[in-house]
Amino acid sequence: MIDANDACYSYATQHPGGGMKSLDKLGIDDDAFLVSSLIDRCPRVMMLRELFQNAVEAAQLSTGKRLIRIGAAEVDGVRKLRIWNTGPGMDPDALFRMGEISSSINKEKALDRNFGIGAKVACLPSNHLGVRYRSCANGRDNEMILGKRGGVYGRLLLRSPGRGSETSVSAIRDVIDVTDIAVAEGQPLTEDWTEAVLLGMRPDQDTVLDPYDGKPAVERYWIPETLYHRYARIPGDLQVIINEPLHWAVGERPFVPILARALNEFAGYEAVRSPEGVTVHFLHDPAHPQRRWENASSEDAIQTSMTFVAVMWRNEFYDLRSGSPWYYEAPMFGVTHGGRHVSVIVELPDDYEVLPDMYRQYLLYNAERQDQVRVAEFAGLVRRVRPSWIQGIVQPQDSGGAGVEMLVPELSTLAAALRLDELPIVSRDAAETDATESEPGDAFEKASDLCKVTAGVRRRTSAASRPTGHSGSLA
Ligand SMILES: Nc1ncnc2c1ncn2[C@@H]1O[C@H](COP(=O)(O)OP(=O)(O)O)[C@@H](O)[C@H]1O
Ligand SMILES: [Mg+2]
Repeated sequence: MIDANDACYSYATQHPGGGMKSLDKLGIDDDAFLVSSLIDRCPRVMMLRELFQNAVEAAQLSTGKRLIRIGAAEVDGVRKLRIWNTGPGMDPDALFRMGEISSSINKEKALDRNFGIGAKVACLPSNHLGVRYRSCANGRDNEMILGKRGGVYGRLLLRSPGRGSETSVSAIRDVIDVTDIAVAEGQPLTEDWTEAVLLGMRPDQDTVLDPYDGKPAVERYWIPETLYHRYARIPGDLQVIINEPLHWAVGERPFVPILARALNEFAGYEAVRSPEGVTVHFLHDPAHPQRRWENASSEDAIQTSMTFVAVMWRNEFYDLRSGSPWYYEAPMFGVTHGGRHVSVIVELPDDYEVLPDMYRQYLLYNAERQDQVRVAEFAGLVRRVRPSWIQGIVQPQDSGGAGVEMLVPELSTLAAALRLDELPIVSRDAAETDATESEPGDAFEKASDLCKVTAGVRRRTSAASRPTGHSGSLA
């Protein structure tokens, strides 16, 4: 192995400035290719996390109200997803610089912090038409649009508003002043703010309902669900408002992450710190008294109440499993029967030897092999620290009458769709052998897995407080 200090391989030379220079730094030969490959390899589904994280980081620095609003904007008569936040705005120069890859303004760049390739990289694969940034700083609102034209990613050249007849080159810029538009729209100019509007791939694409242009399709209420499954806490006294129609309720609603709801909205909550410094959060969510197919925490919520297991690091979830994958694995974590009603969060300390992968989709051990961190690896630890009240959560009624009654209509619809009656008939003896080998809870858990397929649709149309007429999924 070559040792950098080995005199045979290290030739220090006197730098003209007086210091010692021992290498020439690597440059980039084909920067357009490097930029495209960075962008095109980014998992599209990371888009919301990156936009939201930027909004959180900015709003936290606000000297006034700390607010994020997620809603819709109209662009040429078409609905587009809009994320708006308070916090230090960007003047034309800062806005221009944020368009560069690996540019972080006023943020610490590090492998365990910001990389400067967050939102730009995560948004552009699904927004070739553009991501429109508008930012208000010093009482002026400026705009820049990042997009892809002729196979190349970059800042779009825009014509300053009100200078339509002007043909001079000076009227065409990559950052333009749109203060007049902000005034006409009633946007405040006395405080700093920034908004990102996703234009998508096509002018007629509704990026609220179809942010990835069908690749992949998303659940209708994907925003609260995605945030709930990514953020365990939101640091600081930050308010996050989600507007209609991004959730099933009427009007605007706050987004509240699970650990902020734990004490009030769950029947039981306990955080247990292990000797290794890992904190395990246990949350008990019994069935809703009326809507038995949902859990009680769904009352007045804007996201599903399906339980889950996940690793948490620096307030964000990784390797999250909800629904049936979790119910099947729950016994491994010492949750023998109640997987449907217990969520388990394994919180790693901030200085744990882990790092997110480049696109922050996965958490990796910061060790030789850099394997992905899997929540199942903590099953033994969870079992060990499991409080006694969790061990007591056994719900025999779930495998009995009420649950099965609820499932019958769902399962018969599903059976018809799957044409199960056309399958060969299994002999009674074989069926009985299978049945005796199953745990009593298994039947319910398997059934509830099937039920999940249709539960999404019922969930959204059942409660009087929720508007009817929304379909469950776009897919
Ligand atoms: N929503 C926002 N509000 C205020 N500033 C923002 C916002 N989004 C991006 N910025 C600025 O643009 C810079 C680049 O953002 P980004 O490409 O996501 O990289 P990163 O967040 O990793 O630094 C940020 O450092 C920040 O200063
Ligand atoms: Mg970022």
